[in-house]
Amino acid sequence: MSPDPRLGSRPVGRIIYSEADIARRVEELGREITTAYPVGDLVLVGLLKGSVFFLTDLARSIRRPLKLDFLVANSYGQGKASSGVVRVQYEPAIPLTGRHILVVEDIIDSGRTLGFLLDRLRSAGAESLAVCALLDKRLAAPPPELRFVGFAAPPVFLVGYGLDHAEEFRHLPYIAEVD
Ligand code: IMP
Ligand code: MG
Repeated sequence: MSPDPRLGSRPVGRIIYSEADIARRVEELGREITTAYPVGDLVLVGLLKGSVFFLTDLARSIRRPLKLDFLVANSYGQGKASSGVVRVQYEPAIPLTGRHILVVEDIIDSGRTLGFLLDRLRSAGAESLAVCALLDKRLAAPPPELRFVGFAAPPVFLVGYGLDHAEEFRHLPYIAEVD
């Protein structure tokens, strides 16, 4: 197989989830979510930037009315380990009171980022609050709101389909390991 021209000079390791694996699972999650919210106003809140591709694919696989908004927070610097410091840069502009909030997250690692953001969202007066994560490394106890998970991911550093290392590799259509 010829090398992926998206990679430039920096190689990635093994492909863990192919484009087809991701598409299949996202479609299933969309069906699960459609069934789980028979009534009420649903707002998908995507945590950027990591969830960008997952959010847009997932939203289009949900067959019911919904609204989209974003939450931009930073917990990582340039490295591969969570700094534990979360800075919120953008919060949903759509009113969340009385609505079903579904937080869409790329990956749960230590769970610190999500824990911090859920604390803020719990006070928004929502009808319900749940989380849909594409990947869960299962390194920590999940928050009670974690309701939908795409894949139980191996405890390695992953890139692609939104996931970055130092802002690179987000646009890979598959998810691969970096060494
Ligand atoms: P946590 O606070 O340790 O759970 O980290 C969550 C955030 O760190 C995710 O939303 C990602 O942006 C980033 N992250 C965690 N693990 C990985 C990884 O394997 N690859 C890329 N980013 C990751
Ligand atoms: Mg990141």
